[in-house]
Amino acid sequence: MGAAAIVQACAPVGSRYVIALVTGASSGIGEATARRLGREPGARLVLVARREERLQALARELGGATVVAVDLTDADAPARVAEAVQREHGRLDLLVNNAASSWRGTFGEAGVDNLRRHMELNFEAVARLTEALLPTLRASAPSAIVNVSSVAGRIARARAGAYSASKFALCGWTDALHLEEREHGVHVGLVLPGFVATEGFPQRELTQRALTRWMVTRPEVLAEAIVDAGLNRKAERYSPRGYAIVPALRVFAPRLVRRFTGGRAITPSMPGDER
Ligand SMILES: NC(=O)c1ccc[n+]([C@@H]2O[C@H](COP(=O)([O-])OP(=O)(O)OC[C@H]3O[C@@H](n4cnc5c(N)ncnc54)[C@H](OP(=O)(O)O)[C@@H]3O)[C@@H](O)[C@H]2O)c1
Repeated sequence: MGAAAIVQACAPVGSRYVIALVTGASSGIGEATARRLGREPGARLVLVARREERLQALARELGGATVVAVDLTDADAPARVAEAVQREHGRLDLLVNNAASSWRGTFGEAGVDNLRRHMELNFEAVARLTEALLPTLRASAPSAIVNVSSVAGRIARARAGAYSASKFALCGWTDALHLEEREHGVHVGLVLPGFVATEGFPQRELTQRALTRWMVTRPEVLAEAIVDAGLNRKAERYSPRGYAIVPALRVFAPRLVRRFTGGRAITPSMPGDER
């Protein structure tokens, strides 16, 4: 089935368009996902992130979109987003929880404060926004939520423990939400990216070496996986798909995996690296 047909199939009866909200739409995977959804006939987007000028520029490029410039960790952010969705559209067909960040550091160096800021943005903010939008999603069913976790939500690397903890939490919670919301007609999908070259995660250590360059993909590849998980109602998508081998290796060859993930050769690049 083509993507346009999927949109038609998932759109509420009598409706000709899909309302989709993407968090973290000002760069990287979220921006690519918004562009990808924007190509769907009749799709109408809600773009969420902190950098308003970026969102406005994207909205203009897409021929119009609702822009909500918020810091998702702010106490009133979920209510502000939910209010804008109700005011502008009155329903929501797809929520893509994509915004997140990472600050590298060992637990010994960065401590509980680093753990806390990861959990606040990468897990709690996702749960709080979902809670605020769930009544609208249920009322709009069949509808969908896609949570963007990470392969790091299945396997941890040295110096990225806080990031992994937040993404492990997101994976576990998403699995449960998938089961709970089924009876309400809200599909909940999980997308687990491998290494993707973006503004926030430039992956320079990997792209600069011929030996590891192949491991890094483009945000557009992830956008396809997110659209597939949301509109095609997939429960779980690794992207690129080959990364699905990683959690299996963690179970069946844990010593091998620990050798690989403990070294410095394969460590993710993260926003904190530039600070
Ligand atoms: N790139 C990778 O290799 C990779 C791998 C695995 C998983 N992921 C996941 O993929 C998702 C997207 O990452 P990306 O690579 O596209 O990174 P990115 O380019 O840094 O994009 C992150 C987005 O989140 C937004 N954001 C950050 N903090 C926010 C806050 N407090 N409130 C609202 N919005 C906020 C940013 O916008 P503003 O700065 O404008 O707020 C930006 O639009 C994340 O969940 C990430 O964990 C990425």
